[in-house]
Amino acid sequence: MTQTIFRIRRYRPGQQETWWQDFTIETHTGMTILEGLQQIREKQDASLSWRHSCRMGVCGSCGMVMNGQPGLACNTQIHAVKDDLVRLEALWNFPVAKDLVSDLTSMFDRHTAIGPYLRRDHDAARPRSELKQSPAELDDYLQFTSCIKCGVCMAACPTLASDAGFLGPMPLTAAHRYNSDSRDAGFAQRKETMAQHHGVTHCHYAAECSRSCPKGVDPARAIQLMKRDLVADMLGVRRNQLAQPVATQEPVIREGLTAPAFTVADK
Ligand code: FES
Repeated sequence: MTQTIFRIRRYRPGQQETWWQDFTIETHTGMTILEGLQQIREKQDASLSWRHSCRMGVCGSCGMVMNGQPGLACNTQIHAVKDDLVRLEALWNFPVAKDLVSDLTSMFDRHTAIGPYLRRDHDAARPRSELKQSPAELDDYLQFTSCIKCGVCMAACPTLASDAGFLGPMPLTAAHRYNSDSRDAGFAQRKETMAQHHGVTHCHYAAECSRSCPKGVDPARAIQLMKRDLVADMLGVRRNQLAQPVATQEPVIREGLTAPAFTVADK
């Protein structure tokens, strides 16, 4: 057993200021931040608030900032963060509802605004047979379907920190996920939202979103691909004329995830 201090930034609705409060807890190898919080609530302060449900990195509700790094409390081990002192804050770039609970309404409103579902042409709305996809067509968007909407990428985004109106990596990744689906015909309806001043062009590719994503999604790549698609659309280049992004070595965002190369096939 080790003694670890949890230094938690607290907030109560209606108060002007936040404050830091220390709790000393007994920790052991493999214990998660979420388990540490539960120990505090059971033994020291029942009023401490945070959000969680699945405890296994699936529901996306336990996002918080741990020693300056946004992530999920349920799949982060205490000793992997630090043995002696762990600072916990609600997710950055969102209003705080209470203690470690962020209000994610702005993210879900933006997600709704991009039309996060398959849109079909009117004539194709009633297909007479199964909508088949090739493995290559599935590969176009599969990586981006792992998003659990936890808000961790939004908290890590430096653009969102300086421009509260920026759509942010989660909604933009969702837009690219549907734009890239061979069954979807919604690009024309989404493009005005994506191309607005606070849209994809405002991303300056810090790639913190991709580094912090607990599910290995690569929002920075999605946003760069969306920039390519918008430029191609302006130039009148059809989607099937775009060369597939070529994996490059630099900059490597996470192991196995690389920045896309921007090449357009000859018209
Ligand atoms: Fe569900 Fe952490 S509790 S992701």
